[in-house]
Amino acid sequence: MKTNRFFPEINAGMMPKHDRTAWLKGGNAQCLTPPRKPLGNAWHLILLGAPGVGKGTQAELLSERLACCHLSTGDIFRAAKSCIEKDQTPALQNALDYMKRGELVPDGTVLQLVAERPRCLRCSGGFLLDGFPRTIAQAEALEVLLKKENIRLTAVLDYELPLEKIIARISGRRVCPGCKAVFHVATRRPKIEGVCDQCGGELVQREDDRPEAVKVRMHAYEESTRPLIEFYQKQRLLIPVDADGSPEDVYRRTRLRALK
Ligand code: AP5
Repeated sequence: MKTNRFFPEINAGMMPKHDRTAWLKGGNAQCLTPPRKPLGNAWHLILLGAPGVGKGTQAELLSERLACCHLSTGDIFRAAKSCIEKDQTPALQNALDYMKRGELVPDGTVLQLVAERPRCLRCSGGFLLDGFPRTIAQAEALEVLLKKENIRLTAVLDYELPLEKIIARISGRRVCPGCKAVFHVATRRPKIEGVCDQCGGELVQREDDRPEAVKVRMHAYEESTRPLIEFYQKQRLLIPVDADGSPEDVYRRTRLRALK
């Protein structure tokens, strides 16, 4: 097997991908393929950045190669959306309405979902929090949770990109509702147009990627999430990362600049 001596963790990408059942389903659900043992210390990272900047794409690369689990609150909501309605709690149904409009889900609902998944914060591979925290109240609550678990954050990566490039990424995004794979009509094209490479499902545009919902999401980011930059700067955890270039460029920049 050919290995990469500059980025040895790339070799780990050849291992079977671990699933995120415990995070996506909550309760007593278990991951079928738990994360492998990390090559060094486990990373405990937060990914910050505007909607569509490429956090999920980087989280996918980082989790594959560093063995940490990709914990996205947006993915919990999208997984809940695919459940039949009778399996959705009223709080989740309410959350999905906020999400559809592009608004932030109330802190109480989000914090309850995260607090119900302490095992995922303790995951042996470490974690990449994507889309959480998104408000100062969520960040403060996370501090309490992590203290209880005796976990220290390694860093907070803040991905930055000019607005017009973000809009181009969001408007071209296509997702597979079945396996959740993410594509882009220009930069990450599926082999067959409109068909998921991984499971053959039909690719669709996310409901909250419609222009009117995007406007609301950008506003929510500026108002509620951007203040987290200063919050983590004060804690000397913030590492700005230029999100321009291909996903692989951004990954390398993250590794070389931030995760030495
Ligand atoms: P969430 O799912 O967290 O969405 P988001 O933060 O808006 O981020 P996105 O998933 O839109 O973008 P991304 O940065 O991951 O970009 P991606 O990698 O896909 O949240 C959705 C909603 O859930 C919220 O609006 C809210 O309602 C609710 N919610 C979730 N968490 C919450 C919380 N904590 N509190 C309250 N509410 C919460 O990339 C985008 C596109 O660009 C893709 O097509 C990709 O292929 C392409 N791309 C990526 N990188 C590159 C690159 N380097 N070059 C070219 N193309 C690229």
